[in-house]
Amino acid sequence: MSLFATKPLSRIMAESEGEHSLKRTLGPMQLVALGIGAIIGAGLFSLTGIAAAHHAGPAVTISFVIAAIGCAFAGLCYSEFATMIPIAGSAYTYSYATMGELLAWIIGWDLVLEYAVGAATVAVSWSGYVNSLLLDFGLHLPVQWINSPFSKVTLENGEVVHGIMNVPAILVVGAITAILIIGIQESARVNAVVVVLKVMVVVLFIIMGWAYINPSNYTPYVPENTGLFGHFGWSGVLRGAGVVFFAFIGFDAVSTAAQEAKRPQRDMPIGIIGSLIVCTILYVLFAHVMTGIAPFMELDSAAPVAVAVDKTPYAWLKTAVKLAIIAGYTSVILVMLLGQSRVFYSMSRDGLLPKLFSDVHPKLRTPWRSNILLFVLVGAFAAFAPIQVVGEMTSIGTLFAFVLVSIGILVMRKTNPDHPRPFKTPWVPLVPILGILFNVALMFGLGKDNWMRLGVWMALGLLIYFMYSRHHSKLRIDTAAANK
Ligand code: ALA
Repeated sequence: MSLFATKPLSRIMAESEGEHSLKRTLGPMQLVALGIGAIIGAGLFSLTGIAAAHHAGPAVTISFVIAAIGCAFAGLCYSEFATMIPIAGSAYTYSYATMGELLAWIIGWDLVLEYAVGAATVAVSWSGYVNSLLLDFGLHLPVQWINSPFSKVTLENGEVVHGIMNVPAILVVGAITAILIIGIQESARVNAVVVVLKVMVVVLFIIMGWAYINPSNYTPYVPENTGLFGHFGWSGVLRGAGVVFFAFIGFDAVSTAAQEAKRPQRDMPIGIIGSLIVCTILYVLFAHVMTGIAPFMELDSAAPVAVAVDKTPYAWLKTAVKLAIIAGYTSVILVMLLGQSRVFYSMSRDGLLPKLFSDVHPKLRTPWRSNILLFVLVGAFAAFAPIQVVGEMTSIGTLFAFVLVSIGILVMRKTNPDHPRPFKTPWVPLVPILGILFNVALMFGLGKDNWMRLGVWMALGLLIYFMYSRHHSKLRIDTAAANK
């Protein structure tokens, strides 16, 4: 069988049913909530300030719009696929149907960067916010146990040492894994509560902060370029878009839950596009208020929201805001881990990963063994890895997935022109082509170091594919048997 042999759609659909399948319980609101749960997090609450202070100034609002446009093109392509092939696995499954096994493996491997590495990144930010909240109450956690060995930390006696491991990050990944194992309904319920809380905080910040906007903070709206590409001016706005792109990661995670949606044909586009629209509106307003309240240079902080809140008479709200942010990060981790286990579930059912990744618990109907293994991997990553570096890999990995999904739509329209498409991406080929161009441009914005890291990660993936997956591929085994 050639490396580019695709998996027939009829086979994909037949395999998605049966006793080992996941439970279809999610409605449209729960899907939109899943999207928002994954989207609003470290990107909004931390990176908005950094993008404004270093790259775009008040025009970080325009950066958000640019990043949203790139995501919208990809989101429209995801929606067509998610309704055509409404099963778990998302971009991985779409690639298997359109571009063959090798590319499917590549994208599945790439999605680990988005979901597993993304979850670890956010778990570390979560740990940082928890520490900051506890400090507000005078509680000091031992610094070596809240930092990875790659971080230098200062002890109380002034001595500078390396961290040992990030314990709170492991704990949050463990707690969320437990919820995911208990059930998809329970996970969706926890997610819904958190989403309401974090949307409330964002809306409250916008409404209360609006009165304290100082219009002089908006002049100049696009600060003059310093002479360096990406440092203010229009190139800075673009670079800012690359930075805040992280804030949009997650809307595609809705598509990984397609096999658990009651009516995926109708509800997948609602979940994907709906969550994207809601978040874009909130982000632009949030960034507008934040840069209106505080001069953008002052927002260079890991907690820019606290800097802005300090400029209003509501400084007492800071603790509540931190609490909501901590809760908000939890749902990002939840949906990322959910997405990762669903992608591995599909890869394992295809034989490309060991069977344990698709073992569904007989009562809970969740891929529990996979969840436990992911806890070990993601927990270890969050505890020990140099997270600043791998955080950007989440973005480049996601952008790469968006590019492949956009290409997939072009291929699918040629190879399966007559297959029913409950949702059609508008203006094909324009939208997928723009999706490819926008997202490749954002990938270039992330710099060559990240391209190299992506290359190393992919090389490792190819090694596994040729050593293990290729020989265990069910499609390959069945094709060989049929040809005998
Ligand atoms: N979009 C998610 C966040 O901002 C990953 O945390």
